[in-house]
Amino acid sequence: MSEPEKHVSKRKCLKSKRSRFILAIVVLIVIIAAVVPPVVVTTRKKDNMGPKAKVFVPLYVYPAPEAWTPLENVISAHPDVNFTVVINPGNGPGPLALPDANYTREIPRLTAYQNVRLLGYVYTSYAKRNVSAVRQDIQTYADWPTNSSNPNLAVRGIFFDETPQQYDAQTFTYLKGLTDFVKDLDGLGPDRFVVHNPGAVPDSRYLATADSTVVFEAAYATFQERQGAKLFTSIADSNRTQLCAIVHSVPETVEGKSLRGLVKQVRKVADEVYITHLDTNYYASFGSKWTEFVDLMAA
Ligand SMILES: *[C@@H]1O[C@H](CO)[C@@H](O)[C@H](O)[C@H]1NC(C)=O
Ligand SMILES: *[C@@H]1O[C@H](CO)[C@@H](O)[C@H](O)[C@H]1NC(C)=O
Ligand SMILES: *[C@@H]1O[C@H](CO)[C@@H](O)[C@H](O)[C@H]1NC(C)=O
Ligand SMILES: *[C@@H]1O[C@H](CO)[C@@H](O)[C@H](O)[C@H]1NC(C)=O
Ligand SMILES: *[C@@H]1O[C@H](CO)[C@@H](O)[C@H](O)[C@H]1NC(C)=O
Repeated sequence: MSEPEKHVSKRKCLKSKRSRFILAIVVLIVIIAAVVPPVVVTTRKKDNMGPKAKVFVPLYVYPAPEAWTPLENVISAHPDVNFTVVINPGNGPGPLALPDANYTREIPRLTAYQNVRLLGYVYTSYAKRNVSAVRQDIQTYADWPTNSSNPNLAVRGIFFDETPQQYDAQTFTYLKGLTDFVKDLDGLGPDRFVVHNPGAVPDSRYLATADSTVVFEAAYATFQERQGAKLFTSIADSNRTQLCAIVHSVPETVEGKSLRGLVKQVRKVADEVYITHLDTNYYASFGSKWTEFVDLMAA
């Protein structure tokens, strides 16, 4: 920036009004040159958000009338965006054959959308939970359509929460057995999709036993640190389609351009993405920038 001034002063032409006018023009051009390129570059980047990804929604919101409307609104506004939605009526399907009337009213509304894949929540307590109880939960979900005589009261796969990170043969057999069980159940068709949630990068041998794995479920601050430490380098880029990432506790100041940058960064590493500004009860409601996030997923 100082070069043109030096250049001008060396020629000793600063004294006349004319040369001061020229200097002013030169300075103006330098300023414009410094400011304009970033704007142009930013505009170009808007069209380049990287690979598309699905919106992943841990919908632990009780379906009181209208409570799921913020979700339905973005689903219908963005038919080109796919949504993977996890429902959790009672720490799983709940103890009864069918969930309560609020659920039986709202679930078919979601399954009616072509761009929604509903998954049923089942916990495994890091593969320590009695496998018969886990199977019973899965079977309950699979029985919903027949039990209610409503084909739209259905899920198309299972979200296994609390799966382990460390490898051991017995755990592998436990998880593989559950996946095989899901893949054989007609009531979960046609997808019979399986998601594991270790919440962090697990031993890579587990990846193949699920269709998708949540390799990050933590706060924005942690995401910033781990990206710096190249968190995802232990997983091959080719495995991106099998990965899901959840970033919560995003500061309210991360909006607009910086939220765009975050969404782009996460889309690059994972095929299913959830980002929320909520910093407590992350999944019990929709955060302040919910629609902004989904718009960026559609970009
Ligand atoms: C449905 O939700 C409303 C609002 O929370 C509640 O008052 C009602 O009792 C619920 N209905 C059933 C059948 O649980
Ligand atoms: C969305 O889902 C449809 C149908 O399964 C699929 O063809 C399409 O590739 C998906 N798009 C994305 C971005 O995942
Ligand atoms: C798991 O639950 C089943 C059915 O309730 C029971 O028969 C079995 O003994 C349990 N297994 C273990 C290891 O607790
Ligand atoms: C629904 O589930 C209950 C409890 O498991 C069972 O007793 C009933 O026979 C089922 N009804 C149908 C139509 O499958
Ligand atoms: C993804 O990961 C699995 C398990 O580690 C591996 O077998 C597979 O080759 C990887 N790549 C793709 C494209 O699935």
